[in-house]
Amino acid sequence: MSAHLPLLIEEMQSEDLPAVLDIERASHVDPWRESFFAEELTKPQALSLVARLKDNRRRIVGYICVWLVADEVQIFNLAVDPAVRRRGVGRRLLLAALHKACERNARVAFLEVRRSNQAAQQLYQSVGFRPSGLRPNYYEGIKEPAVLMELEMDRGWRSRWLLSEAGATDGERWC
Ligand SMILES: CC(C)(COP(=O)(O)OP(=O)(O)OC[C@H]1O[C@@H](n2cnc3c(N)ncnc32)[C@H](O)[C@@H]1OP(=O)(O)O)[C@@H](O)C(=O)NCCC(=O)NCCS
Repeated sequence: MSAHLPLLIEEMQSEDLPAVLDIERASHVDPWRESFFAEELTKPQALSLVARLKDNRRRIVGYICVWLVADEVQIFNLAVDPAVRRRGVGRRLLLAALHKACERNARVAFLEVRRSNQAAQQLYQSVGFRPSGLRPNYYEGIKEPAVLMELEMDRGWRSRWLLSEAGATDGERWC
């Protein structure tokens, strides 16, 4: 494992899509098309963030796409450039999105993840998500169940993850 990268985490813009798509295609069996990301940028309930290298803002190294509805946040997509995985980018994107969601009064977070995707499950568990169910054959093409995961962002969780240095490292800027 290498050192954490200094990052800027900002809202995704349409000009970010070529770099986002490169990471998407390198990360998922069934990648989103460009139109899918473009649509997310227009939806009022959607929040999409990118992580840029602090010393090279043009270099996007990951992104997250969530929806905020009432007091819930649903995580739909998260991916990190394979060249910089295990350097804290995924966790910081996840915490930045949850931080934004809490500012907009979200209190619970949900997601679905392929059962075989141990890396993602470990990441989610590392910030407090717990498995809450299984959806058989959720991913049609690959006939794989989805593990449902859930996180209660109560006061204790927020003070541990959103106010401490674990969430925002020195000099890092939330969007
Ligand atoms: C899952 C993913 C986003 C993780 O991003 P990342 O930047 O490498 O993750 P981080 O460095 O922030 O890791 C945070 C924690 O997650 C866990 N983790 C991440 N990758 C892991 C792996 N390959 N194996 C085991 N645990 C892993 C660890 O607990 C890690 O903490 P540690 O490094 O202190 O041990 C990345 O592997 C990815 O883009 N995968 C392909 C797309 C994908 O599966 N997205 C999720 C869909 S639900």
